[in-house]
Amino acid sequence: MERVIKPSKTLSGALRLPGDKSISHRYGLLGAIATGETRIRNYAPGADCASTLACVAQLGAGVERKPVKTADGQTVEDIVISGRGLRGLTESAQTLDAGNSGSTMRMLSGLLAGQNFRSVITGDESLQRRPMRRIMDPLAQMGAKIQATNDNFPPLAIEGTALRGIDYLLPVASAQVKSAVLLAGLLAEGETTVSEPVTTRDHTEIALTQFGANIARAPRRTMVRGGQALRGQRLEVPGDLSSAAFFLCAALILPDSNLYLQGVGLNPTRTELLDFLASLGAKVQMLNLSEVSGELIGDLHVSRDGNARLQGGRIEGEMVAGLIDEIPVLAILGTQTQDGLELRDAKELRIKETDRIETVAQNLRRMGAEIETLPDGFNIPGKQTLKGTELDSFGDHRIAMAFAVAALVAQGESRIKDAGAAVVSYPGFYDDLSRVSE
Ligand code: S3P
Repeated sequence: MERVIKPSKTLSGALRLPGDKSISHRYGLLGAIATGETRIRNYAPGADCASTLACVAQLGAGVERKPVKTADGQTVEDIVISGRGLRGLTESAQTLDAGNSGSTMRMLSGLLAGQNFRSVITGDESLQRRPMRRIMDPLAQMGAKIQATNDNFPPLAIEGTALRGIDYLLPVASAQVKSAVLLAGLLAEGETTVSEPVTTRDHTEIALTQFGANIARAPRRTMVRGGQALRGQRLEVPGDLSSAAFFLCAALILPDSNLYLQGVGLNPTRTELLDFLASLGAKVQMLNLSEVSGELIGDLHVSRDGNARLQGGRIEGEMVAGLIDEIPVLAILGTQTQDGLELRDAKELRIKETDRIETVAQNLRRMGAEIETLPDGFNIPGKQTLKGTELDSFGDHRIAMAFAVAALVAQGESRIKDAGAAVVSYPGFYDDLSRVSE
């Protein structure tokens, strides 16, 4: 699908974001190995989280979508999972398909490594280029038997087997890898401990506790004992802060914007974005904080007075892991700041759904903007004029949405090729964007 995006004058109004993608994956997976029913409100609507549900359904978990009326008269769809218990999943006759979702493939592999049957997981073209060695190494130390193309790439053939607990220090900061090891740890004999070089999102740790598992946590370190039964739960997923990022940045670029984003997940391991925006001089307030299912949630209010530009900034070192999904849209914001944006230590960006250093650079250059790329980052000068033009998502949801934001501030209209890629995390993105832009 190609999409035409016209420039916009300002952004205003209120939006409720779709459910958080990271949290939804975890609830889907843990619900499948819990005993009893798990009911999930506001499960992420995107294709990635649907892939997780399709995989667990193929492995024997019950998955139903149940429409329910909320107190304010709206009809929403709860996901209801009938869990099969820690070792109750069954072999799938067909290959499991994780679609575009690295989270599904990596985390599910942890769960499947310790079952007593064989599984094969594949994914789309993009996922087949993404490295799996990072989960295969620790899982092999636990005794897992996993084969991959060139020992690194999907499809993965997993011969379920008895696992033993390990004490593992992650060589790269990755919440997906941490989670794969912790999930395998649930099925392993003894204790499994994972330490990380930098704090990454802790949704798995929180979700495990919600499902009744006993885990021990210290800063950058989590221990789980194998063999613990999980109990089905009623859970609610907060709105996705990584989806909110597109609207926050758009509002900070367009003059006189005034926007409320409601019910957004504000887990402190995810809010590096808000700290970074504040460091550029942005006004983003957190309001109405509360907790749902162990996760912090609240509203965000973002405003921009007149035409004042934000300062420039630099993203490097330990900040990178906490901003990794937001960097494409921060690059757009960077072009509109006073002094631009510098990025370093972010070679992980090159192995996301696309090489996001390259796909950001290609589109920015098409818009007439300047960007210098480096192996691990980029330099983007500030105060640039973007020209409306032909853009490409390259099949990457975050590139599609970041450049929809760029198109709002461009001179002249833009066309985004394969704009439909946004469906991976945010099927209603363009409707929501046109609802709040004038
Ligand atoms: C995620 C972790 C991050 C992030 C991805 C979701 C998760 O990936 O980029 O979108 O849900 O754990 P890495 O673990 O590869 O850093």
